[in-house]
Amino acid sequence: MQDTYLRYSFTKGTEQEVDFLVDALGLEPGMRLLDAGCGPGRHIAATTRRGIDTVGLDLAESFCRIVAAGDTPAPAVVADIRQIPFTDGFDAVISLCQGGFGLLGGPGAPIDADLQALRELASVLRPGGRLAVSAFSAYFQVRFQAGEGGDFDADAGVMHERTAVKDAAGTDLEADLWTTGFTPRELRLLAAAAGLEVEAVWSVEPGDYARRAPDIDHAEFLLLARKPT
Ligand SMILES: C[S@@+](CC[C@H](N)C(=O)[O-])C[C@H]1O[C@@H](n2cnc3c(N)ncnc32)[C@H](O)[C@@H]1O
Repeated sequence: MQDTYLRYSFTKGTEQEVDFLVDALGLEPGMRLLDAGCGPGRHIAATTRRGIDTVGLDLAESFCRIVAAGDTPAPAVVADIRQIPFTDGFDAVISLCQGGFGLLGGPGAPIDADLQALRELASVLRPGGRLAVSAFSAYFQVRFQAGEGGDFDADAGVMHERTAVKDAAGTDLEADLWTTGFTPRELRLLAAAAGLEVEAVWSVEPGDYARRAPDIDHAEFLLLARKPT
């Protein structure tokens, strides 16, 4: 299943993303990191190899099992990003490539679902700890995806797609995907409402994380924020 997942193009830039995050979050060996919505643990493996004490969390039990049994094993708990079963203070938290945050929209979803997720992420940070969350760009969605097979809800800011998800054998399975798009302004407001100090919002792509001012050309924004001391 991990091999199947790692065939997706968005998983190809893991080392670049982690090198960037180690610098941006000030991560050092021995620090404690939570990867929320970790999937099969590509970032966990890369941070663990760098000596960072990383824990994973994902809704999918199969992904958590892969993390715990991988070449670079790490603990991973089955949980929802909106109800994180930790109380201790992590030095940093990441949630990347729609690791829960940004996947909480869709029919009947409360408008504050992503705020709830951000509040949970903030609650497990130690004072002074940092968070990095990637979020799909609303600008990019409207420019390049609305009308191209996507069903864009302009009121909710959510793109609905029927997409193919590969099973363990690599066979395509049809699934619904609701991806919420964000503007930098929304991310700043959400982070402030979650009690975080925003340090930056950058325009990024999978495998091309950079300190790039927000624009309308890149698919994702990366929010970097800090819990006040
Ligand atoms: C696109 S994958 C990204 C995984 C990983 N962060 C990466 O970059 O490879 C999204 C992950 O978020 C998980 N997920 C979706 N909704 C979630 C939720 N509410 N709470 C926790 N995890 C969630 C999915 O199970 C999936 O593993």
